Amino acid sequence: MAEETTKKTGFKGIVYWICIVASLGGLLFGLDQGFIANALPTINEVYGLNLAGGEHFSAILFNGAAIGALFSGFFARFLGRKKSLLLAGALFVLMSGISVFLPPYEILYWARFFLGMAVGIASFVVPLYLAETAPAKIRGAMGTLFQLMITIGIFGISLTNVIFVQTIESHVARLPLMFLVIVIFALLMFIGAIFLPESPRWFMLKGRKDKANDVLMKVMNTQEEVDFEIKEMQETIGSTSGESKGSVINGSFFKVMFVGIFMMVFQQLVGINVMIYYAPTIFGYASIGGIVGMMTVPLVNLLFTFPAIWLVEKWGRKKLLYVGSIIMFITMVAAGLAFLAIGTPAPGVVIGTFPKTVLLISVIVYIFGFAFSWGPVAWLICSEIFPIKGREVGMTITTMVCWFFGGFVISCALTIMKTYGNSSLFFIFAGGCILSIIFLFFWVPETQGVTLEEIEMNLNEGKKLKHIGRTSE
Ligand code: BGC
Repeated sequence: MAEETTKKTGFKGIVYWICIVASLGGLLFGLDQGFIANALPTINEVYGLNLAGGEHFSAILFNGAAIGALFSGFFARFLGRKKSLLLAGALFVLMSGISVFLPPYEILYWARFFLGMAVGIASFVVPLYLAETAPAKIRGAMGTLFQLMITIGIFGISLTNVIFVQTIESHVARLPLMFLVIVIFALLMFIGAIFLPESPRWFMLKGRKDKANDVLMKVMNTQEEVDFEIKEMQETIGSTSGESKGSVINGSFFKVMFVGIFMMVFQQLVGINVMIYYAPTIFGYASIGGIVGMMTVPLVNLLFTFPAIWLVEKWGRKKLLYVGSIIMFITMVAAGLAFLAIGTPAPGVVIGTFPKTVLLISVIVYIFGFAFSWGPVAWLICSEIFPIKGREVGMTITTMVCWFFGGFVISCALTIMKTYGNSSLFFIFAGGCILSIIFLFFWVPETQGVTLEEIEMNLNEGKKLKHIGRTSE
């Protein structure tokens, strides 16, 4: 059935452009997420923040993102996917624009909160839009574009911030420029979103078959292909039509909800954001500073997202996740052991080259392990598994879980290192990797190459979670 389906659905090259423009929301996500690592000292200086103040300012993005994700289900359902993207774009432009003028701290703080809301909306709507608009054959690759954009954003902003720090001595002069970079890309995203078509599946949900037909004609080659796609959508929407909102919350919905929630819990419990936010600090504990401390993580994170685009369709989702978890487990243990060897050296004591090298290599390989697996694939699976009528509700919850656990990890990581020793955190993350492998084995389906409608039909037929995707499994 999967093969038959993909054979019937060809597509035009414009699909790639549509997906690239939509995934600019991921770029903004990355720019805001990666902003802190190399800008915080400047912000602290300009606004006179102490350590706790700086941490608070960093974390407010997570709170805003969780709230943004909460509302975005409603936005996506009632306004549509495209208008929700425009809303996120407008918030990005406005809030980063306000920040450029270095307003009083309270205003800057709330601007970061609302930027977080935009990130929350984008992190919900972009994967949803991509999954609903990209043809099954390239859905995985297009879904990973979102993550690629996130990593480009994290890398780009880390780099520009380092350049500003190195070339402009005055803190007050360099901070507006740091924010300006975000404004420029936010404008690009907003303008790009104006030209995007609405998701055909949203049109079908709203009973507007003619509009869905128009969009599909833009992206597919023949009317026959369009008709086939529309028929599939009608079947899934029709099979649950007449049911009230409450019917979305049934047994099979909870089953996929379980998978979605834990995909996101583990994406965060393997510890990625500790590296994204605190790598310079952590490397600092081992006397690894300068450009290596500031740029290694964003660079490796970006470079190794590329293989995912290709591997996610060649290997499928689950194999990537397994390999990622195993690599991250090994490297977290190695990093923990390196920190055990380093201990807590007194100031001025020179740390041996061997444990420092082990630490650096472990972090590099760890980021590689995340970048081609859990980074892109967690978002992808969450965008694929929910039935169409419960997709907004399901993705609202999984996106919130991602932000909630991300915030949780960020808010206690350094304290754990301080209280239980630097190595403890890495062993905890290694434990997270082991649990993720168990979770994958028992519950996660392979969703490569099947249409969203097939996944939904398998779910409705009561198939085991593990088997709602690829039929060969
Ligand atoms: C995660 C973010 C993380 C980023 C790193 C994303 O998939 O959701 O929390 O910062 O990957 O590349």
